[in-house]
Amino acid sequence: MVESNQRMHGTWASRWTFILAATGSAVGLGNIWKFPYIAGENGGGAFVLVYLLCILLLGVPVMMAEVMLGREGRMSPVNAMRFLTSRAGLHGWWNSIGWLGVIVGILILSYYAVIAGWALNYIFDMANGSLQGANGAAVSKHFGELLASPGRLMFWQTLFLILTMGVVIGGVTRGLGVAVRILMPVLFVVMVILLFYGASQGDFDAGLEFLFSFRTDRLTWAGVLEALGHAFFSLSLGMGAIMAYGAYMPAEAPIGKTVVTIAFFDTLVALMAGMVIFPIVFAIPGMAPDAGPSLMFQTLPVVFGNMPGGLFFGALFFVLVTIAAWSSSISLIEPAVAWLIESWGLNRIAANLLLGGIAWVLGIGTVLSFNAWQDKTLAGFTYFDALDFLTSSIMLPITGLLIAVFVGWKMAPPVVFAAMEDRMPRTLRLWYTLLRFMAPVAIGVIFVFGIYNKFF
Ligand code: PFF
Repeated sequence: MVESNQRMHGTWASRWTFILAATGSAVGLGNIWKFPYIAGENGGGAFVLVYLLCILLLGVPVMMAEVMLGREGRMSPVNAMRFLTSRAGLHGWWNSIGWLGVIVGILILSYYAVIAGWALNYIFDMANGSLQGANGAAVSKHFGELLASPGRLMFWQTLFLILTMGVVIGGVTRGLGVAVRILMPVLFVVMVILLFYGASQGDFDAGLEFLFSFRTDRLTWAGVLEALGHAFFSLSLGMGAIMAYGAYMPAEAPIGKTVVTIAFFDTLVALMAGMVIFPIVFAIPGMAPDAGPSLMFQTLPVVFGNMPGGLFFGALFFVLVTIAAWSSSISLIEPAVAWLIESWGLNRIAANLLLGGIAWVLGIGTVLSFNAWQDKTLAGFTYFDALDFLTSSIMLPITGLLIAVFVGWKMAPPVVFAAMEDRMPRTLRLWYTLLRFMAPVAIGVIFVFGIYNKFF
């Protein structure tokens, strides 16, 4: 059964294709849209430091565990966990790791597609010159008009979901594998071009000062929880994506080295995004670095619209964002697609249409959160805020915790060590210790304090 499932989905052409695919999954809206604005809201440098610690001490160990689970199970997260729990003679309750992953993936995809749709729309808005020379009020009005129109939002959301399904229908080797081998190098080159642009046209010193200087007074426990949740979100952990991708990984590749490479690229792109965005924001007096979610869509276009070559680079910037979101969204849908193929006997096309349809319907709530349902809030959350908070700050840490406990405490150590295919026993021991002790305690503490701080 395990072997036949592996053949059913295919495998990555090489370890590097896996690295590109997982990096493509990791690098997304989280890095370019969310990281800079939450760093801005939480005071810059101090938040960045906490975030880096979360990536290194919690994210990397949990990611290694998640890749390992996928590769051992060689199936969609749901069936991989089923296989692993029954092989270890554990309670079926642990299968929830797989279920949660698949469900959260589709929930995230539902709002991810809406936001990615904004970026897609902005490529055209930047390129057609309508934002040339626009001031803050004009761009705000422009963005406000987009958000106020459910029809426009749904048009771009739909287009983005079609792009996503188009790749995933092609399968692992020919669809996802080929897409990431083209998209990721393009993304990197565009990022470097923009970095040069930001450094030469923007206020690079002010941008870096903002991103890296310490303002601990702005950092709260809720901010620390946000950093943790975001570290997981950014590495695509706890959503089955990395487990599903791990299932297609060549058997002999060392997991530790591979995961560290992916985490390195992911962090590099987040920091580079900050180093592109903030110098550009500071180039024009009066622009707020802590504008929140609208930072990328309201602040940046003003700046681009008023800088030499800004329209071209602005359009290029939103191409970058779209590519990053695209290579992530394919990994949000793949775990559930693989599951439907294995367990319901659907083909790839049917599975994609069904899941894309579900994400589309759920996404309508996000679309309406910005207009008709703007005032329909629960405890101050709109539908979109609630979904974002529920997935990133609650479900991801919980699934992360479950993965750490499952691999650290429930699986037999010899099985775990053999599965890692790593020839560095000392580093592997360190990983095991971090996973067993550090991850559950730290995730638990941050979670409890963060929730308390957020609501009380
Ligand atoms: N890691 C992606 C980002 O930072 O935008 C988001 C994401 C993709 C999360 C895929 C989860 C996932 F399964």
